[in-house]
Parts: sequence; C-alpha cells; structure tokens
Amino acid sequence: MKTGKLIVFEGLDGTGKTTQIRRLAQSLEAQGETVFVTAEPTDFPSGKLIRRVLSGEVPSSPWSTAALFLADRIRHCADPENGIAAHLAKGETVITDRYYFSTFAYQGHETDLDWTMRMHYDCPELIRPDLVLFLTMPPEKCMERITAGRPAEAIEIYENTEALAKISRQFDRVFERLKDRENVVYIDADGTVEEVAERVRAALPIIPKGKRHESH
Ligand code: TYD
Repeated sequence: MKTGKLIVFEGLDGTGKTTQIRRLAQSLEAQGETVFVTAEPTDFPSGKLIRRVLSGEVPSSPWSTAALFLADRIRHCADPENGIAAHLAKGETVITDRYYFSTFAYQGHETDLDWTMRMHYDCPELIRPDLVLFLTMPPEKCMERITAGRPAEAIEIYENTEALAKISRQFDRVFERLKDRENVVYIDADGTVEEVAERVRAALPIIPKGKRHESH
C-alpha cells in the first residue's frame, strides 16, 4: 500500500511552528502534493480536555497529563476518518504541529522520561515520523513572542521563561537520546519567516526515499 510521509514540527511555544507549517504546506502543495496539516493537542474530546488541563481549569498531575496526551495521540493516529494513518494511507503528506517528543520534553521532565518513552514506543497504534523538524530559539525570545498582545489569563501553564528554559534543555536531552532512533533536524528559528522557511525547505530532502511506515 502506498503511504505518504509524516513530518513533525517540534519546538518551544513561540518558535513560529504554526507559520512555518503553513509555509511548508503551501510549498509542497505547489509541487502537487496533497498535504494534511494537523496539531496536538487535537480537536477530539481528549484534546479539548487537555486544553482545560493546560489552562488550569481541570486539575491533573503530570503523570495523568502525560497519559492524557498519549490517549489523545492514539486517537490522532488511529481515528478512522481523520486520523494520521488514514491520511497517510491515501498517500498524503501529513504535517503535525507537535507529537510525542513534546510529551517527552514537557511531561518527561516532570515525571520519568523513560516511562513516557516506553509507553509511546510500546504502543502499536502510534506511527513513527519520517522527519522531525525541531525549531530552536532562546527561551527569552519565545516568551517575548508568546506574551506580545495576549491577555494574562490566556497564558498557559508552561508559558514562563524559567519553565521554557527547562523544557528547552529537556528537548535537547530527548533528541540526544533518540539520535539513532529518529530522523531529527535542528532548525534555527531565530530569523525572518522567509529565512526560517528556507532552512525548513533545505532540510526536506533528508527524508529517506521510500521509507515505509512502521508501527513501533
Ligand atoms: P500548542 O497548541 O502548540 O501551543 P499554543 O497554545 O501556542 O498553540 O501546545 C499547547 C501546549 O501543550 C504547549 O504549551 C505544549 C503543551 N504540550 C505538552 O505539554 N505535551 C504534549 O505532548 C503536547 C503535544 C503539548
């Protein structure tokens, strides 16, 4: 069965993932590809519950939050109509704004990194990405972008400079651990939209040709 490619964007809040995803989708579509853009937390009920946890409205422990993200991600992959697997099966290119690396970075440092990794890599319904683009930027700069023009009550629990710096270090730890297991490219996101888009385009031929989608 012909399958498309799964591209993951990761990075701290404020690194410009959404803009870069839009740019990449447009440029792939211009080359004739069908692109499905998606994000986590999802719009499924599991993702809506996570948003309420992140805003502080629904109480949760880091362990419980990690498990909620896994549940949401399984649905994200396996939903028969709109799941990642269904789109890949049609030969589409799927781009997701965040994936399991975010759980390793955000929840992994508050719980147990090995546990978060095990529960993902042991789950047969999760799809392995073809390429992970990790957008990097100094946490102070991310924070400036996050807070610009936003009311204080719209700032989520991970959105302060100290928390972002910790998560940034955890992302580095995660990708160091996974360097032989995942296809990760670091993209310097500190630049104009055009400059960063060019760096993203330059990373794309790294996707190994004809790579099959395997479950873990
Ligand atoms: P996101 O939607 O990317 O942020 P934004 O509010 O800027 O659109 O993600 C929401 C938050 O969820 C973000 O702070 C990171 C966090 N998150 C986790 O903690 N673990 C995860 O597994 C994922 C996917 C996101």
